Amino acid sequence: MQTRIALLPQMGIPRPYTDTLPLQITDAELDPPGPEEVCVRILAAGVCHSDLSVINGDRPRPTPIALGHEGVAEVVQCGEMVGDLSPGDRVALVFVPSCGHCPTCAEGRPALCEPGLVVNSKGTLLSGAIRIHLEGQPVLHHLGISCFADYAVCHRASLVKIDADMDPVQQAVFGCAVLTGCGAILNTARLRMGEQVAVVGLGGVGLAALLGARAGGARKIIAVDANPSKAEVALQLGADHFVDARDPEAASQIRALSQGGVELAAEFAGVMPALELAIAATRRGGRTVTAALPNPNDRLSLQAATLVTEERALLGSYVGSSVPSRDIPNWLAMYRSGRLPVDQLVSHEIALPEINEAMERLASGAAIRQIVTFA
Ligand SMILES: NC(=O)c1ccc[n+]([C@@H]2O[C@H](COP(=O)([O-])OP(=O)(O)OC[C@H]3O[C@@H](n4cnc5c(N)ncnc54)[C@H](O)[C@@H]3O)[C@@H](O)[C@H]2O)c1
Ligand SMILES: [Zn+2]
Ligand SMILES: [Zn+2]
Repeated sequence: MQTRIALLPQMGIPRPYTDTLPLQITDAELDPPGPEEVCVRILAAGVCHSDLSVINGDRPRPTPIALGHEGVAEVVQCGEMVGDLSPGDRVALVFVPSCGHCPTCAEGRPALCEPGLVVNSKGTLLSGAIRIHLEGQPVLHHLGISCFADYAVCHRASLVKIDADMDPVQQAVFGCAVLTGCGAILNTARLRMGEQVAVVGLGGVGLAALLGARAGGARKIIAVDANPSKAEVALQLGADHFVDARDPEAASQIRALSQGGVELAAEFAGVMPALELAIAATRRGGRTVTAALPNPNDRLSLQAATLVTEERALLGSYVGSSVPSRDIPNWLAMYRSGRLPVDQLVSHEIALPEINEAMERLASGAAIRQIVTFA
């Protein structure tokens, strides 16, 4: 069948993306689903910084590639050996397929699935297949999903069945922003009720983390960003204070607001000054967690002795250390009951041809989560 995709022919195209148009909306050939694969119709897809990082080269991937990795979809056709999904089912798209058998899957850590990470870096589905073609040439899958498109073929291991009676616009953010942000706070750093939390970097992922900290019982939340326009939404979502990361006194301000530093500081900005600030804002004995994906050349400098003498922990969090088939349905239920008001993360709804404008808005800090919808 034919589908529109958002094709990235090459990385490293400079801004402004409204002029340079790094993504091309083009018709491509989508093969039928193979064994254990599913063809889905995309209902809503969120624009995440990790898409932007493929465009600007911070997250190098082979090209040409069809972008998009956060979204929800409706099952259209199941390939052989897919016994537990049917046409019409609603699914969340998960950006690491988990094989279920490798050592990290066996340990209960599907976000670290070894074959999943290998195929994601190659741009194929979990089986190794490539189901998108343009004029006979293969187009790679972004993280097994490629959901800036009308239709996609995904491996069953990239899908989580969810309720079909909710607005897909809000459901879309659960596949990446909520899974990553809430997961970093609750799964990776294991927030304890009553702790103080600093959230550094208030994009879709950081603000989802803020909501997770609130729902998980933080006693004080300090929101931090280098862009002061993020203060208003952070305070609305439940932050007690906003600190401007550009202020040279930012770390001491956070330490003063938290009587010596927060028990848990979480970073979602993707630049070293933000991670350094998160570490400096963490109290003795505390945890600093980062879920951001900085450029692979970035290096962190640490005073190593204080890791020991102050019993500090520095934690990395991929896909929120989540079990997506457990966490996405549970956290969607929390949205339904009003305990996780993610609707405020959605700043724009756009059509697929506006995707380059959306990337420019994200790069300039003028958007939180922008959701591509499909008529
Ligand atoms: N670990 C994972 O599984 C995973 C999943 C999704 C996204 N990510 C990464 O998480 C990060 C956040 O993604 P997003 O979509 O929310 O991005 P975003 O661009 O929407 O938000 C980033 C925020 O960081 C702020 N920022 C920039 N420099 C800063 C500084 N020095 N101090 C404080 N704040 C600063 C920006 O103003 C912006 O508000 C990205 O690096 C993305 O690649 C990781
Ligand atoms: Zn993402
Ligand atoms: Zn695995």
